[in-house]
Amino acid sequence: MAFTEIVPGIHYVGVNDRTTTRFEALWSLPYGVSYNSYLVLGTEKTALIDTVEASFGEEFVENIREILADRPIDYLIVNHMEPDHSSAIRTLRQIYPDMRIVGNAKTLQMLDGYYGIHEGTVEVKEGEQLPLGGKTLSFYLAPMVHWPEVMVTYCAEHELLFSADAFGTFGALNGGILDSQLTLDHYWDEMRRYYACIVGKYGAPVQKALKKLAALPIRTICSTHGPVWQEEIGRVIDIYDRMSRYEGEPGVVIAYGSMYGNTARMAEKIARELAASGIRRIVVHDLSYADISTVLRDVFKYDTLIVGSPTYNGDLFPEVEALLQKLAARGIPKRKFAAFGSFTWAGTAVRHLNDFAQKMQWEPLCESAEMKQGYAHCTAGKLCAALAEAVAEKIRQ
Ligand code: FEO
Repeated sequence: MAFTEIVPGIHYVGVNDRTTTRFEALWSLPYGVSYNSYLVLGTEKTALIDTVEASFGEEFVENIREILADRPIDYLIVNHMEPDHSSAIRTLRQIYPDMRIVGNAKTLQMLDGYYGIHEGTVEVKEGEQLPLGGKTLSFYLAPMVHWPEVMVTYCAEHELLFSADAFGTFGALNGGILDSQLTLDHYWDEMRRYYACIVGKYGAPVQKALKKLAALPIRTICSTHGPVWQEEIGRVIDIYDRMSRYEGEPGVVIAYGSMYGNTARMAEKIARELAASGIRRIVVHDLSYADISTVLRDVFKYDTLIVGSPTYNGDLFPEVEALLQKLAARGIPKRKFAAFGSFTWAGTAVRHLNDFAQKMQWEPLCESAEMKQGYAHCTAGKLCAALAEAVAEKIRQ
């Protein structure tokens, strides 16, 4: 079996991006990212599944030609129109002018809107099939995983799913393509970070798609980002299932802002006291310095969130406000919550934190710890210890 052949007649032709520093101009890429594309060779026809980001067009076309040689691409299946997967379409169309572009009604509207392409297209509907000779592709709509036009494509002969963004991860592919060919350690957290940042708002549509896909036998998952899953399919589906149900694992995230270090000392005290109470999974983020994508990842990963903020201009500290805005945008419906904070002459931050948690319908764990002025000269340490003890007590229950 050739290096890029996933199953007989289905090849990986994607590319690695190790130079873009921010995905969607927002999210950091410490391990890079891959844009995955796949070539399906039927006895009669060929089909390409999705493309790659446009700046990798030359490498992408070489990958395709290495497999296809002189055969044409008969169909381009567009599972997802976000430009990291679609922006090479126009170039590809120029090289393969007879290639027919397959998508659902929403895809074809976007294809015209983004690239002015409206000819040589094939519209497909839920469950429709496209025979290629020895390989039959079926299409299932998966709207809002992660855009409204998203669909997935299934090859029954190989029980193989081309899943668009679903089951994707950040992280370029380090030589291997299949999960069995890679050291996977960092991909699990990169999968959570990818989910939290990119798909996190769409828990309900992901659940709907998972239920639809449960009816299909699946031995291989080919996502648009990250490894091809075979050996780890159970774990991958479990992570997506839990995250889309917003189920956190037992663990505590402490996220805070601090101008002069007083609120930071509260955070440190709470973390130390929690650890002394036997809590082992504790992550502390100073929001002025943390990578926000890792904070979102950890809030999705763990079931308890403790947020601290000084009062700033009569409101929340801006970086704390920014985190809450991102959490609200993702509609995380269930978390255990506690708040702490500080003020110099009039406190509002702690009240705002608790109002936010109430709006999100999160479970309040205990009284907040609120400090006036400096940490060293007041009873804040005791308040933080009491907060930590109450949180640890609730967690142990
Ligand atoms: Fe990788 Fe939603 O695009």
